[in-house]
Amino acid sequence: MSDAPRPETLSLEQQLAYARDLRRVYDLERARRRELEEANRALAAANAELDRRLYDLMAAQEWILAVNSSRELPALMDLLAEPLLVLLHAQESVVFPWDPAARQLGHALGLGGRPETPLLAALRASPFSAGVLAAGQPREIAALEADPDLDAARQLGWRALVALPLVARDERVGLLYVAWSAPHTPDERERMLLDLVAQHAAVSLANARLLAESAARAEALQRAEQQQLAYARDLRRAFERERARRSEVQAAYLATVKVLAAAMETRDPYTGGHVERVAAYAVAIGRELGWESERLATLEMGAALHDVGKIGIEDRVLRKPGRLEDEEWSQMRQHARMGARLLEQVPFLWASVGCALRHHERFDGRGYPDGLRGAEIPLEARVVAVADTFDAMTTDRPYRRGLPASVALAEIERCAGSQFDPEVVAAFLRAVRADPTLRPDGA
Ligand SMILES: [Fe+2]
Repeated sequence: MSDAPRPETLSLEQQLAYARDLRRVYDLERARRRELEEANRALAAANAELDRRLYDLMAAQEWILAVNSSRELPALMDLLAEPLLVLLHAQESVVFPWDPAARQLGHALGLGGRPETPLLAALRASPFSAGVLAAGQPREIAALEADPDLDAARQLGWRALVALPLVARDERVGLLYVAWSAPHTPDERERMLLDLVAQHAAVSLANARLLAESAARAEALQRAEQQQLAYARDLRRAFERERARRSEVQAAYLATVKVLAAAMETRDPYTGGHVERVAAYAVAIGRELGWESERLATLEMGAALHDVGKIGIEDRVLRKPGRLEDEEWSQMRQHARMGARLLEQVPFLWASVGCALRHHERFDGRGYPDGLRGAEIPLEARVVAVADTFDAMTTDRPYRRGLPASVALAEIERCAGSQFDPEVVAAFLRAVRADPTLRPDGA
């Protein structure tokens, strides 16, 4: 049997107290149900709001992707206008890009390819636009009253507007207008969307400006590069012309020099062709030593001119068939200094001075005119000394026949290290071995 009191056995007071308890429980239950219903309603509203925000975000995301993939500024601004018109139920949106060079707003963009109307131009130039730009803050007009500053906006049929200065990377890039055809106060969601669109419009404008600037820079760079290339081509052509002219001049000089040297030789009929041969031997040695063509040309000139000083030697000495007396030898030896003095007069022939002055110096220091030794003697002169001696030995003279080439070569080799530079002698022997036409008798 239960311990719970049964009503019919309770007193009246007890029954009243019991009824009051029941009533309290019932009231509590009803209040709880009301709270629950309210909570459910709030949840449903929150869900709906979430859905709406999700839709906004998805639409914005899609739009941002489209904006980011578009590079043409007018098409970009049309894209920017879309979410404003769809999500904000706005009547119109217009972007005026900032022109930093002109320090003013440029013609309206985002009009679907249509040109700016005079009313839009008036809005662009209005003190209201200037004021928003100067303040750097968005400006909302919920109900557009008659206002001389915004006369153009009213004539456009606008009854509410938001003006947003566009700033990217701390730089002013434009002004965005969003307009409604009826009075309108943007709510928190709309302000968030406006802010989002303004940020993207600003970045897009800044990027478009950067792209235009870098395209202009690239074009200027390309122009400069082409100019440089053309300049380099001109320079190259001029250089080649100059080189050709120089080698022509050099060849002409050499021809003249050889004619002069040959003319001088006619005084000593027994040495005919000496100049040409000495020059050829010297160049063959220079090639063996690995010299460049320019140095070989200088050497050829020096070899051709090495005896030019003989022009100042009296005939009785120069053409004497027999042995020379001491005084005659002393005069003969003067040809080295005389040649050098002659060549010093002509700047083009300065490089040949060493050959004329030093071709009778000996490697061991026992030559003339100064008894220089080894490396003190210019290398060109050491080369000419070998070439000159070889030709003198192999050429017939009035008082003796020329030696066979093999004998002359053996004599040259014997004198390596005393009369001649051994390296020059070795180069000469190599040259003669490689080119038998260098032997006057082919022996
Ligand atoms: Fe000589």
